[in-house]
Amino acid sequence: MSASSSDPSVPVLTIDGPSGSGKGTISAAVAAALGWHLLDSGAIYRAVGYAAGMAGLDLSDPEAVTRCAQNTRIAFRAPKEGGPARVFINGFDATDEIRTETCGAAASAIAAMPAVRSALFERQRAFRKAPGLVADGRDMGTVVFSDAPCKVFLTASAEERAKRRYKQLKEKGLSVTLATLLREIEARDERDATRKVAPLKPARDAVIIDSTSLTIAEAVERVLGIVRAALPRHATTRN
Ligand code: DC
Repeated sequence: MSASSSDPSVPVLTIDGPSGSGKGTISAAVAAALGWHLLDSGAIYRAVGYAAGMAGLDLSDPEAVTRCAQNTRIAFRAPKEGGPARVFINGFDATDEIRTETCGAAASAIAAMPAVRSALFERQRAFRKAPGLVADGRDMGTVVFSDAPCKVFLTASAEERAKRRYKQLKEKGLSVTLATLLREIEARDERDATRKVAPLKPARDAVIIDSTSLTIAEAVERVLGIVRAALPRHATTRN
């Protein structure tokens, strides 16, 4: 795997961690504060899972899914009115579609395939552009940007993550129980941490932040403090 598409002089902050740790929200807020680009690598896995599903592919067939990962056009576009980037798959706005539980399950299945991960490696590296990049995912600090000068591993207790998820789903009007969500989260943690390829674990040089008893604003401030300390020349916040 070559690093040709990415400029090593551009600073990267990696934020890895399990789902429900607050990664997505915190990464977006930190990127906005720094004026840096944002890579939501989970959205790329979700997009491939979605495209594979739409094409009627067998999600357990690594060759077919890898071809799909190579050939699917995925673009992030900032809406004119501001707010989070929209995700386009082969020109179609699939921002909402990729957030469903079905698509999450498809993403999780295809993300366990080494050839799919290799096919997406350079695409993710290409997000490293001036003035800097915040890369959110599971293996940003361990694999994709192992050379990043600044790495955070964001976590929270399984109970707290289940509570956050419960609140989100209730707000959407879905009927779930906290006990079921906790069981699912614990099972997913076990699967993610023990899978053979790019298992979820902190990079050796990552700073671990436990967000269990932090507000979003406190967690963002902690992360910005880490970036300022590691990269005083680059980390000028916008507000
Ligand atoms: O963060 P998320 O829930 O949107 O991620 C969707 C799936 O993709 C999840 O099952 C984990 C996987 N993923 C991964 O394996 N590596 C990444 N860098 C990001 C996500």
